[in-house]
Amino acid sequence: MRDEGGMRQEFRNVYADETRAGSYSELEFPGTYYLAFRDLPSIFERHIRGRVALDFGCGAGRSSRFLGDLGFEVLGVDISEQMLSRARANDPKGDYVLIGDGDLSELEGSSFDLILSAFTFDNIPKREKRFTLFENLGDLLANGGRIVNLVSAPEIYVNEWASFSTEKFPENRLAESGDPVRIVMLDVRDKRPVEDVLWTDNDYSQLYTTAGLDVLEAHRPLGRRSDPYAWVTEMRVSPWRIYVLGRAEQP
Ligand SMILES: C[S@@+](CC[C@H](N)C(=O)[O-])C[C@H]1O[C@@H](n2cnc3c(N)ncnc32)[C@H](O)[C@@H]1O
Repeated sequence: MRDEGGMRQEFRNVYADETRAGSYSELEFPGTYYLAFRDLPSIFERHIRGRVALDFGCGAGRSSRFLGDLGFEVLGVDISEQMLSRARANDPKGDYVLIGDGDLSELEGSSFDLILSAFTFDNIPKREKRFTLFENLGDLLANGGRIVNLVSAPEIYVNEWASFSTEKFPENRLAESGDPVRIVMLDVRDKRPVEDVLWTDNDYSQLYTTAGLDVLEAHRPLGRRSDPYAWVTEMRVSPWRIYVLGRAEQP
């Protein structure tokens, strides 16, 4: 989405906001979100060897608590103090740290068997920042460690879902990688649209290669009849992408 002068509009982190942080802190895994997390335990079983995990963009701690319940020792990091204070309130024994935007220096010297990034890259607009972050996250992997990057699929912004509506934003159809797209979350009280950044599958692949990461699995979870939700589009189109990434072998 561009302004009249052809410049991209400045993107701001919609999660640096008390009301949104409050809504997010009450959100667990309803509806379409269930589908984002349903297959993660089996993906971890297939790919993750150790138990030390970083939750990059932990928000109000939902994804960190999910990892903790699976037996991981978790450090959650985020750039939004509003979200982090909710995470700490929800999980006083948890470890939650504020980092600078695009700055992982706080984590220097640490290494992780799993780095989970759940919806974080939906909010990171610039290609260079994405590239640097993936490169730096790759450097934080222990030997054999894996990044699991869970993101919204481009299709989420042009369909209706159990937990999301995009019908008021037909302009989403014209968006290209890096452009803002809008979506309304139906499961929270705060019905202001969330502004995300669209990123295509091809551009993710390119980004990973440039950052020295191999895609070991790319999963598109689909709704099943046996799931405990009345799916809208979820059985036909996957709303999410789950990429499992490892450091590319050096030649
Ligand atoms: C949609 S929320 C998801 C939170 C959590 N992972 C979950 O699943 O509930 C995305 C989070 O990414 C954070 N974020 C955005 N840009 C970031 C960056 N450059 N570094 C770290 N966190 C970032 C936001 O502040 C927000 O809390």
